[in-house]
Amino acid sequence: MTHFRRPTIQIKVRVGDVTEVECDALIVNLFDGVTHPGGATGAVDRALGGQITALIAAGEIKGKLGEAPVIHTAGRIPAARVIVAGLGKSADFSVEAVHKAVASSVRAAKKKACRRIATILHGAGIAGMNTDRSAQAVVEGAFIGDFDPDSYKTSEREKEIEFLTIIERDADKARSAKQAAAAGEIIAREMNQARSLVNMPANELSPSDFAKEAQRRAEALGLDCEVLDEKQIEKQGFGLLTAVGRGSARPPRLVVLRHQPRKRGPVIGLVGKGITFDSGGLSLKPAENMELMKGDMAGAAAVLSAICAIAQLKVPTNAAAFMPLAENMPGGSATRPGDVIKTYAGKSVEIINTDAEGRLILADALAYAAKSGATHLVDVATLTGAMVIALGRITTGVLGNNRDLMERIKAAAEKAGERVWEMPLFDEYREQIKSPIADMKNIGGRPAGPITAAMFLKEFVGDTPWVHLDIAGTSWNEGDLSYMAKGPTGVPVRTLVELCRDFA
Ligand code: BES
Ligand code: ZN
Ligand code: ZN
Repeated sequence: MTHFRRPTIQIKVRVGDVTEVECDALIVNLFDGVTHPGGATGAVDRALGGQITALIAAGEIKGKLGEAPVIHTAGRIPAARVIVAGLGKSADFSVEAVHKAVASSVRAAKKKACRRIATILHGAGIAGMNTDRSAQAVVEGAFIGDFDPDSYKTSEREKEIEFLTIIERDADKARSAKQAAAAGEIIAREMNQARSLVNMPANELSPSDFAKEAQRRAEALGLDCEVLDEKQIEKQGFGLLTAVGRGSARPPRLVVLRHQPRKRGPVIGLVGKGITFDSGGLSLKPAENMELMKGDMAGAAAVLSAICAIAQLKVPTNAAAFMPLAENMPGGSATRPGDVIKTYAGKSVEIINTDAEGRLILADALAYAAKSGATHLVDVATLTGAMVIALGRITTGVLGNNRDLMERIKAAAEKAGERVWEMPLFDEYREQIKSPIADMKNIGGRPAGPITAAMFLKEFVGDTPWVHLDIAGTSWNEGDLSYMAKGPTGVPVRTLVELCRDFA
């Protein structure tokens, strides 16, 4: 099947006046409750003879977050249309608000087949947001809104946005915005690359296809790349990855990409769950919604994109991405419930449910990462359905064994405009994964599902500071998030990049 690679938006930063810019759509903004906008929005309003203030007075434009009303300018300014992006309440203003406002506006512009978009530095100077943060957030918002999962359609697809030009009056600010926009572009392109991979159907993306893609990108960026095939995986003792992969005709892979700008200092090990399809194995999943399990490699896609982004950004932090890749299938040589497996770390695991496979491949990869020099571990996984029940599709659940690293993750997520919330990892939960015949079993029953899954992982990180991100809910937008297309979200690429920048 042909996969249409969409061209992505070109970003520019220009010194100029918004009332003089020629484009198909100009994005200005409005806070909720403001009746007489100032700044760029005020200037555009005046040029349009007070049309924006009139629409506000009529209650047709409210400034609600994500609102993106389109106004035709009828030649009164060179921009053919103006979009008044709602920024929400000024008291709630954040990076996330800029993402939502710009993404919604870009989606509205796309619907009207706009190709050239201009925008301002939304929120620069408000609530602690400087020019740089605004520029990065504007670019990220544009890419969030631009992504479309329709690349397998053979009929005509929506028209593409070609340019996004950020207009800034002050030349100094424009100069610094230009650099920040370039960084935002790298991060946002990588985020959308992760979304494309998650969007790929499993028939098009096997573990070895994923490994080849990772290798191709590593070569392009000069990252050190190690790929283990199924023979090496088995021979080197990755018993759990072998056990999960053996039910499929398409064998597992283990890929490690390393970014090593420094001789010493911390090494961040990013470990991503890479199940290219999760049928459940012999503990077969119900048919309903099983197709979504093509996205069970969202963790691996996120760590791949994150390492590629930090390489391009030349972040001076040592980092490595570990991607255990397997297809969880119920083939003739599949692992059975009741099987006992020896892990890479040397412990024994009784497999009770073959659908709890993510923690198995992660356990081997975490142990390997710790052994091969990672000083800090962050794993990312679509790990439990129970996390979707607990926090829905808005918030990523985080659990870990180290206060400092946990706080760093929270701060990075906040900066990146992604939501995380901590869940507890009290020792008492360990009881639930006790096995009568092995060191532990791979499920802990229905109570506290996301926590017992994390307790299992904890067994394999030793004393290394570690945080686990369960993205089962947040990696896929079911339509809850109106500012982006239904489908993959690219979470938590931005948080991981921010974390590595924080370590620099
Ligand atoms: N990949 C699933 C978790 C999942 C569910 C991700 C829904 C995204 C959306 C995982 O491998 C799984 O099947 N987990 C089981 C664990 C159970 C058997 C203890 C689950 O959550 O049901
Ligand atoms: Zn599963
Ligand atoms: Zn899974």
